[in-house]
Amino acid sequence: MRFKGRGLITLQDYSSGEIEFILRTAMNFKERYYAGERIIPVLEGRSVCLIFQKPSTRTRVSFEVAVAQLGGHPISLNWFELQLGRGETIADTARVLSKYVDCIGARVYRHEDIVTLAEYSSVPVVNLLSDKFHPCQALADLMTILEWKGRIRGVNVAWVGDGNNVAHSLMVACSKMGANIRVATPRGYEPDREVLEICEEDCRRSGGSIMLTNNPIEAVRGADVVYTDVWVSMGQEEEAEKRMRDFRGFQVNRELLEYASENVMFMHCLPAHRGVEVTDDVIDGSWSAVWDQAENRLHTEKAVLSLIL
Ligand code: CP
Ligand code: NVA
Repeated sequence: MRFKGRGLITLQDYSSGEIEFILRTAMNFKERYYAGERIIPVLEGRSVCLIFQKPSTRTRVSFEVAVAQLGGHPISLNWFELQLGRGETIADTARVLSKYVDCIGARVYRHEDIVTLAEYSSVPVVNLLSDKFHPCQALADLMTILEWKGRIRGVNVAWVGDGNNVAHSLMVACSKMGANIRVATPRGYEPDREVLEICEEDCRRSGGSIMLTNNPIEAVRGADVVYTDVWVSMGQEEEAEKRMRDFRGFQVNRELLEYASENVMFMHCLPAHRGVEVTDDVIDGSWSAVWDQAENRLHTEKAVLSLIL
């Protein structure tokens, strides 16, 4: 297993063994953190630049804290306050930043832009969310499932909502790790065919399974995990009205959870729109793992950074 110098654009680029190793490293960081070892200075003298084209709470703060707790120096920047916002190319920006920092993280609208950034950077690039993938979220999700269920292999995961970036990364993560994932979306909002095909291939290797449906009940029946995300992702604001209509019937509420396994856990990457894709009683219930998911962003990110740098 070789991590040093690698970026993280999508989890497709990592094997199940490598993902397992990242999770184990993250668990170790978390244990040591709770044991009072707050600073583990493996990134001393290193700088990490985090660039945001879109808003962020969890990703920005957890990454900054992760770098700081590893003894490094984080620099968060808004895309539009860089010369990028005035038309300097991504390629030129990547080449320049690579001279100053040891790692670049970026949250972008178009997935192609993070790919270009990685292509021209000579330091590792981490995807902090694009319109297609959110790999850092999926790592925290896997860690949370592992903590709550004691395993990932064979766990039945139901996705209810949009076939979006978070869904794609969860699909990839589950398929690689041998979980069974059922994805329920309204018609026309299914995940990318290309991502699905890669997941089907991974399932053949891992013993997991993947299935798409337009019926939330079919996905949730007997599920150990029920996961949802917003119906209107960042950058889709103009479609909001239509989406609100099209997603009717896809809210995760008590009634839908009744179909799940008795020990169901509820997941959401956050931010949540309470009363829209999820009701208060579901997100605030004892089955809700959302705060653990948010917390585990910090520990999985420390694992990734310590391994790739
Ligand atoms: N889940 C997540 O990525 O949250 P932020 O948009 O707040 O970073
Ligand atoms: N699908 C959401 C996730 C936010 C963390 C979005 O892209 O806006």
